[in-house]
Amino acid sequence: MILLNFISSEIDTSRFVAVTAVLAIGYFLANAIYQLYFSPLSKVPGPWYAAISPIFFIIVSLKGNAVYTWELLHVKYGKILKPTCIFHTKGPYLRVSPTSVMVADREPALKVHSPNDVFPKGPWYTNAMASESILTIRDHQKYKTRRKAFGSGFSKSNMALLEPVVRKKAELCFKKIGKHFDNGDIVDVKPWLYWMAADIVGELCFGKDFGMLENEAENLLVRDCLNFTLVAGIQAQAPFTKYIIWLLSEALADLQHEVQNCKDGNPRPSLFSHLLKDVDNPNAKYKVNITELRNESTLFILAGTDTTATVATFLAWDLFRNADIRQKVIVELKEIGWTQGDNDDGITDEKLQTLPYLGYLLREALRLYTPAHTGFPRVVPENGRYLGPHFLPAGTECLLPVYTLHRDPNIFDEPFAFKPERWLNPSREMESVIMAFGGASRVCTGQHLAMMELRLSVAMMLKYWGNAELADSCTDESMEIVERFLIHPKGNKLEIQNKKITLEN
Ligand code: HEM
Repeated sequence: MILLNFISSEIDTSRFVAVTAVLAIGYFLANAIYQLYFSPLSKVPGPWYAAISPIFFIIVSLKGNAVYTWELLHVKYGKILKPTCIFHTKGPYLRVSPTSVMVADREPALKVHSPNDVFPKGPWYTNAMASESILTIRDHQKYKTRRKAFGSGFSKSNMALLEPVVRKKAELCFKKIGKHFDNGDIVDVKPWLYWMAADIVGELCFGKDFGMLENEAENLLVRDCLNFTLVAGIQAQAPFTKYIIWLLSEALADLQHEVQNCKDGNPRPSLFSHLLKDVDNPNAKYKVNITELRNESTLFILAGTDTTATVATFLAWDLFRNADIRQKVIVELKEIGWTQGDNDDGITDEKLQTLPYLGYLLREALRLYTPAHTGFPRVVPENGRYLGPHFLPAGTECLLPVYTLHRDPNIFDEPFAFKPERWLNPSREMESVIMAFGGASRVCTGQHLAMMELRLSVAMMLKYWGNAELADSCTDESMEIVERFLIHPKGNKLEIQNKKITLEN
C-alpha cells in the first residue's frame, strides 16, 4: 500500500512538472509571438531577442559599455539609408526590451523631455535609490514643490555667495598638485579632482568639508559615494540586489549626523541656509524636515561629485594634449588680468563667464564627456503618444542614448573630434541636442555650480601647472571612454608631471 501511494505521488509530481513546463513554454511562445507581431511596439526596429524578454537589456546595461552596443544596434537597425555616409544609416528608434524604446533623434528626444507635456520619470529611479529626493520623486506636482524649495540654494545669486568656497577649494587642489609636480612627482590627478568636487559639495551642504584635499587622501564617504553610484546602477536594473547595500560602510550614517549638526548649530551660507533659517518660522512657505535634508544632501554628494570630476578629468586631458587649445585659453585669460604662478590675480567666476572661448571649451567637453552617457528613463503618459511614425502606448519606457545624440553626424561636423571652435556659430540643432545636464523637464539642479567649478578649475589648472605635460602612461588608449553607469577613462587614471628637461650637449 505504502509502495502504491509512493508510486502514485511520484506520477503526480512528474505530471505536475510536465504540465508546468508545457504551460511555461506555451506562455513564453505566446508572449514572443505577441511581442514580435501584435504589440504596439512591434513595428519599432530592434533585435527580436530584445523584443521578447527584458533579459538582453538587463545584461547589456549591467556589463558596462552599453552605449557602444546601442550605437551599433542603431546603425544595424537604421531605416534612413544614405549610402554616402555610414553614420547616416543610424535609425532613430530602437526597441531594446518588450517595453523600452531608445530615442536617438533630436526632435522626439526633446519631446520626451519637454516641460509642457511631461513624460514622468520611470521606476528606474525608485529602484536605484530608496530615499525620496529631487532626483527620484516621480509625481510631478510633488517634485515641483520640492525642487522649488531646494533648487533655490543653487540660484545664481546664492552661487555668487558661495563662490569663495569653490574658489578656495579649487585653488588648494591645483596649487597642491603643482607643488607635487615641482618636487618631480608624477601625479594621478583623477582622484584629486574627485576630492575637490566632494570637498566643495561637502562644505556647501554642511558648512564643513570632508578634509580630502587637506589630507590628500580619500575618505570613507567618497569611497562610499563611488560605490553607491555603482550599486545604484546595478539596483536600477535588478532591484532584488538592493540587499548588497550592506557593502557600504558607516560613512553615510556619519553624513546624516553632519546634517543634524548643521541644523542644530549656527549654519553658514550653504545650499540649505535659506531653508534652515525658516525651520522655526511658523509662516515659512516651505518647512523643511530632517529627512528631506538628509536625503537631498546625500543626493547632492552623489550627483555632484563623480559627474563634475569626470568632466574635469577629460577636460584636463584635452587641455594638456592640445597645445593650440591651451594657448587660446591662456590668451583669453590674460585679457582679464589672469597671471600664471602663485600670486593673487583677483580672478572671479564673474570675469571668467565673460570669456567666449572658455565657454566653447566647456560646451565641447560636456558634449563628448557627458558623465551619464545613456538612460534618463521616462514613461509615456496616459493615452500614449506618437514619437515620429511610432505610436507608443502609455507606460512605454523612453531612453536617451546621449552618446549617440551628442555625436550625430547630421548635426556635428567631425562628431568624434574635440573642437571647441565649433561652438562659435552653433546651429539651433547643435544647441538643443546637448543633454549633458538632462532634458528641460528635470534639468540638473546643480548645473550652475558645476559650470562654476569647471571654469575655475581651468583657470587654476593653467595658473599652477604652467610647466606640466601628460605623463607617458597617459595615452589615447588609456583615456578611451569606458562606461560603468557613469563614464571613466579606460586606464582609470590621468597622470601628469612637470616637463622633462632634456639636457643638450
Ligand atoms: C558636470 C557636472 C554635472 C552633470 C553633467 C550633471 C548631469 C545631470 C543630469 C544629466 C541630470 C538629469 C538626470 C535625469 O534626468 O535623470 C542631473 C540631475 C540632477 N543633478 Fe546634476 N550634473 C552635474 C553636477 C551636479 C552637481 C554639482 C549637483 C549638486 C551639487 C547636481 C545635482 C543634481 C540634482 C539634484 C539632480 C536632479 C534634478 C531633477 O530631477 O530635478 N548635479 N544632473
